[in-house]
Amino acid sequence: MISMYGYFEIQSKIGITKHLGGLEATRELLKLCKVDDSDYVLVVGCGNGVSAIKIHRFTGCRLAGIDISPEMVERAREKEEPGVQFVVGDAEDIDFPDNTFDVVISESVTGFTDKMRSISEYHRVLKSGGYVGLNEVTWLVDPSPEMDEYCRRVMGLEAETREGWLSFLEEAGFKDIKSSVGAMNQWKQVIGDLELQRMDFFRIWGRFFHLYLHEREYRKSVHQLAGEALHIPRGFSRYFGYGLYVGRK
Ligand SMILES: C[S@@+](CC[C@H](N)C(=O)[O-])C[C@H]1O[C@@H](n2cnc3c(N)ncnc32)[C@H](O)[C@@H]1O
Repeated sequence: MISMYGYFEIQSKIGITKHLGGLEATRELLKLCKVDDSDYVLVVGCGNGVSAIKIHRFTGCRLAGIDISPEMVERAREKEEPGVQFVVGDAEDIDFPDNTFDVVISESVTGFTDKMRSISEYHRVLKSGGYVGLNEVTWLVDPSPEMDEYCRRVMGLEAETREGWLSFLEEAGFKDIKSSVGAMNQWKQVIGDLELQRMDFFRIWGRFFHLYLHEREYRKSVHQLAGEALHIPRGFSRYFGYGLYVGRK
């Protein structure tokens, strides 16, 4: 049992977030969704905002980012710039009208939610012809019960197989669906994570050490999470890949 702060709370308190494949995967997703400066883009589960800001800067698009965690949104707002707005919001009940966005992007978020509800919401808020682009943790081989239980318990994550993700998109009404699934390369991932954190590196780790040294509950929660995380079932990285899924409304 994780104590007072869970997986995302520990991260949101210091403003760290990540997704599999790093910025390389983000760039690939933007290409597949043909994002350009005329688009209005919704980033669902924007976390600390770094990836969303990069999306805005890479393409010049207008962008709204939502995240369920007010602390994450606070961290993201520190980076707001003209053309970008971050608000608290739930992927499962998006507070924007139907047919608002040209593109909806979600990176390592939908697997933490009720997938059918979230993906149906992505469909609802997209304009006709708009693109959805997901980067989601994908089982490369059927998980052992131990692996499945580990992901749910430690991270609250329910990954899917490629077929599973594709069927959610189809059921929500998306067409022209494309996908590519790659194995996880741990070193590339570490480099990708560092690239994502670069914008915020000193603030993130400054906050971490401050909380770790001064807040007992935070320290306890970090120890518990680290203890849980160290009991990773064997062959962890063999099971996981990151999947890019793109469809049109
Ligand atoms: C693994 S992080 C990824 C963050 C960001 N997309 C990135 O690439 O850095 C997952 C994020 O999803 C957010 N999240 C989880 N459930 C959510 C929901 N139902 N609606 C919106 N955001 C959610 C978490 O607060 C967290 O910031």
